[in-house]
Amino acid sequence: MARRSISNVQSHAAGNHNFDSCDFRQRTLILKKRFQYQPAPRKIVLHKINVAEKFSKISDYYKPHIAGELNGQMVKLVKANTEFVWHHHDREDEMFLVVKGRFRMDFKDADAREHQEWIETGEFIIVPRGVEHRPVAEEECWIMLFEPASTLNTGNVINERTQPHLERV
Ligand code: NI
Repeated sequence: MARRSISNVQSHAAGNHNFDSCDFRQRTLILKKRFQYQPAPRKIVLHKINVAEKFSKISDYYKPHIAGELNGQMVKLVKANTEFVWHHHDREDEMFLVVKGRFRMDFKDADAREHQEWIETGEFIIVPRGVEHRPVAEEECWIMLFEPASTLNTGNVINERTQPHLERV
């Protein structure tokens, strides 16, 4: 039986076996092979991030800094203090989590009607791709962004606020 499982895996890797006909164990082996599964290293060193400490190192407004990365997504920290530019992202959804203060997200619906939503400390909002939006802060606001690594802060707009190269914090 074990021998048959392995041969199924090898057969599948060669592209001539039907995945649906494999049992659970065989499928697991196939998927591990397909995605080049690597067990976690014996010695794991993880470093926690203190969000407030990271924000204390950021002095520029509307200049996102990279605080972490996972699954092709980035955790970015940005300080807002005023009105940003209207823009949208063709391919990326963006999540804005307020760590300190508050800001208003202006956005436009399909009919270009403008809407406003205040995001308070401890709240987040997700702006789907394609939606025209503009963050507005009246006072200093600390925002954690979660978005794909490819996301440009000004989206489809290129101006003096565009930050093509982000620093890590
Ligand atoms: Ni955006």
